[in-house]
Amino acid sequence: MSDRELDVGVVAIGSDHAAYEAKEQLKTWLAAHGIKVQDFGTHSTDSMDYPDVARPLCEAVVSQKVSRGVLMCGTGLGMCYVANRMTGVRAAPCWSIETAELSRLHNDANVLILPGRAGTMDSLEEILEVWLKTPFTGDERHQRRIDKIDSRQQV
Ligand code: RB5
Repeated sequence: MSDRELDVGVVAIGSDHAAYEAKEQLKTWLAAHGIKVQDFGTHSTDSMDYPDVARPLCEAVVSQKVSRGVLMCGTGLGMCYVANRMTGVRAAPCWSIETAELSRLHNDANVLILPGRAGTMDSLEEILEVWLKTPFTGDERHQRRIDKIDSRQQV
């Protein structure tokens, strides 16, 4: 895959204190690949509450002020709970290249959730790269299922 495939617009990134260092690590990686980043905080390892970062970042994704978002906390779980309560957000907790790829191909995930303290099968950078480069298939069956997430439509 080439860096041309990383022409993804502005990527929002945010974390709580538990993933602050991992967030900074990924910001360095994004900058090195020429990707514009909007940092929603946090800006230190001082203890803070993950919803305070997750909500504004997700609002920016839904309102298309940014193209996609990356959220991180210790496990990734707290960020995931908050993000997926917001209409229009499809936040994917990913622990491997495979889950990152499938979250884009099948679910058109617009927020990537990564853990700062819990381990992953592949490196955070590898997971992020694949997630950013992989397009949604656009297949009718996948789009139909995505449409049902927010419409709560039954079969
Ligand atoms: C913070 O200690 C931790 O609870 C938080 O980062 C996250 O893992 C919650 O889901």
